Amino acid sequence: MTATRRNLDLTAVVRLGELGDQITPFALRAACDLRIADLLADGPRPVSELAVSAGAHPGALLRLLRALAARGVFTEVADATFALTPLAEPLRGDHPMSLRDSFTLLDSDVRAWAAIGHTLRTGEPAFGHVHGQDYWSYLADHPQESARVDDWMRSVNHLHLRTVLGAYPWRRFGTLVDVGGGTGGFLAGLLTRFPGVRGVLFDLPHVVSGAPKVLAEAGVADRCEVVPGDAFGAVPAGGDGYLLKTVLPGFDDDDATRILGNVRAAMRPDSRLVLLEAVLPPGDAFDMAKLFDVHAMVLTGGAHRSTEETGRLLERAGLRLTQVVGTPTLTVIEALPAD
Ligand SMILES: C[S@@+](CC[C@H](N)C(=O)[O-])C[C@H]1O[C@@H](n2cnc3c(N)ncnc32)[C@H](O)[C@@H]1O
Repeated sequence: MTATRRNLDLTAVVRLGELGDQITPFALRAACDLRIADLLADGPRPVSELAVSAGAHPGALLRLLRALAARGVFTEVADATFALTPLAEPLRGDHPMSLRDSFTLLDSDVRAWAAIGHTLRTGEPAFGHVHGQDYWSYLADHPQESARVDDWMRSVNHLHLRTVLGAYPWRRFGTLVDVGGGTGGFLAGLLTRFPGVRGVLFDLPHVVSGAPKVLAEAGVADRCEVVPGDAFGAVPAGGDGYLLKTVLPGFDDDDATRILGNVRAAMRPDSRLVLLEAVLPPGDAFDMAKLFDVHAMVLTGGAHRSTEETGRLLERAGLRLTQVVGTPTLTVIEALPAD
């Protein structure tokens, strides 16, 4: 029945208003950039003081914080004086599940998102269209943005370590090669939990240059070799286990197959490959994988895949899927050499 003006149900309009709001994400990310939650860690502070510490304009900061307080992030406890709320706590850098570095606000990403229409018309990633080079090459040429992306990856690893370390028998590996392992946040957490495992961290040279600090801070540097390289070239050989954590979704099927083929070539007949990925479920059910899939489409030209699609990629690369274990975050997919 068509809604008339008199009996109009506004539920959909209100819900769409929330879903379509681009102001809250930008405001939240700007507050993270300014480290506002860290500045409030010791208790409420007036905006005039926060602005000095954050290098912000007091009037502008006041308007930003009022908007966020209206969303439950921060609270105005007295006129122009703000405090943390429970919702704001994980925005602190010292929170065990800190999300502060996950909410990046990168000019290059934002410009790519603004060109999502290009992706929808052509199927090609908007990032390359806007910047004239693919996402990974762009990061290699822009160290500051690359470091922000590495920090983002590391911050997400707190949650991943909590949810996936208990879901698979990692201690079985004498040596685990983490291909595309970033600056080593996940591998460091894994090595800390399993003292009998040795690690090999493999990623592009400009990325692994940040790894020695991460590994030393975790106290595992003596059990982890850092190998700079390109997974389209050759992957370090001889590992008992190979890990690809949220790497394949950054590539289209052909490139993902090439990477898997190089991993397969490095594996012994008895080595195991473990993929950790957000898997695309069927139907309408909400799953972050469906959002990450659009992110991959716009930025890298990659894709999040269903288990069946991943199984087919593995087959093309000479591997066979042996086990799938769901966790509250990523899915563990194990594969062995097919022959
Ligand atoms: C989404 S990040 C995941 C990082 C890490 N595995 C994690 O989960 O924290 C993808 C990683 O793939 C790496 N990568 C991209 N192209 C690569 C290549 N050609 N060879 C090796 N690593 C690559 C990136 O540098 C980045 O660290």
